[in-house]
Amino acid sequence: MTGNAPIDPRILHLERLRARIAAGEPMAGDLAATFALAATALDPTATEETLGRLGGNGGVELYRSLVAWAGLAPRERVLDIGCGSGGATREAVRAVGPDGSVIGADASSEAVAAARERTPPELGVDYRILRAEHLHGIPDRSLDCITASLVFEQLADLPQAAGEMYRVLRPGGRVVASVMDFDQFRPADAAFFGAVVAVVAWHARGALSGRASRATLPRDPQDRSAFQHAGFATIEERDVQLIAVLETEDDAWALFSRSMIGQLLGPLGRLDLRGVLAAQVPHTLYLPVRFLRTRRPG
Ligand SMILES: C[S@@+](CC[C@H](N)C(=O)[O-])C[C@H]1O[C@@H](n2cnc3c(N)ncnc32)[C@H](O)[C@@H]1O
Repeated sequence: MTGNAPIDPRILHLERLRARIAAGEPMAGDLAATFALAATALDPTATEETLGRLGGNGGVELYRSLVAWAGLAPRERVLDIGCGSGGATREAVRAVGPDGSVIGADASSEAVAAARERTPPELGVDYRILRAEHLHGIPDRSLDCITASLVFEQLADLPQAAGEMYRVLRPGGRVVASVMDFDQFRPADAAFFGAVVAVVAWHARGALSGRASRATLPRDPQDRSAFQHAGFATIEERDVQLIAVLETEDDAWALFSRSMIGQLLGPLGRLDLRGVLAAQVPHTLYLPVRFLRTRRPG
């Protein structure tokens, strides 16, 4: 019967995008953003179940540390942009307490559904399907803080999103975000990651010529100026590392197969990736993450 089973249209969509990237189309702009959303639609809990579970240097954790850096106080009003399955959103609720309010917004309906499922109703999170570039329904100057965990890399239009974030924050309100920073690997990890990138180069070469291949904020001058032009203060930075202890091939596969890299690859690419990972374990991988913080002056 499997021969006649209908193919999930979300899988077809992802495969078409994958084919364009494999043919060398640069993974930038709309193609990169559409690919990220298509990958999220098929695996909306991937970030929380892989990176969200890793500990890091000095007791760092992806969500708790991000929200701690936001310095949230009871009763504050927070928006978690690109909330995914709600890992950072639920941390924000704990920080603002019962008199605060938290909106979790994601462009993917699948992510919002996963977040709703994982969030006890008594936490009172207002989950919405919204793009960061168009925060419709959120009034001007109505928020104290915006959090964004591993989202800015995926936005099609960062200047537009920065303008919207500025609009909805009150003067003095802040933005706190995390981004992966692939330029900061330790030398031992750069070799590990280089072997993975070689698989991507072979099977998904457009990924290396587009935006996805480089760290975006805060080094990229274009990205940095998006925040400056919107009116934000200077961006503060804090570098941390999440630590993935990859004892076995299965450990490494569990991390990479659900990452954007794994999603870029079709069956042959995935086979190659698995082989490359198998040859490199055991390995302790330090994943560089950069926390960013800025505020609307006032
Ligand atoms: C890497 S996941 C991170 C999810 C979550 N913040 C976490 O750290 O677990 C990126 C999320 O950003 C969302 N996203 C991508 N583009 C977006 C956009 N333009 N507006 C809002 N969310 C977006 C994706 O749907 C996905 O859920």
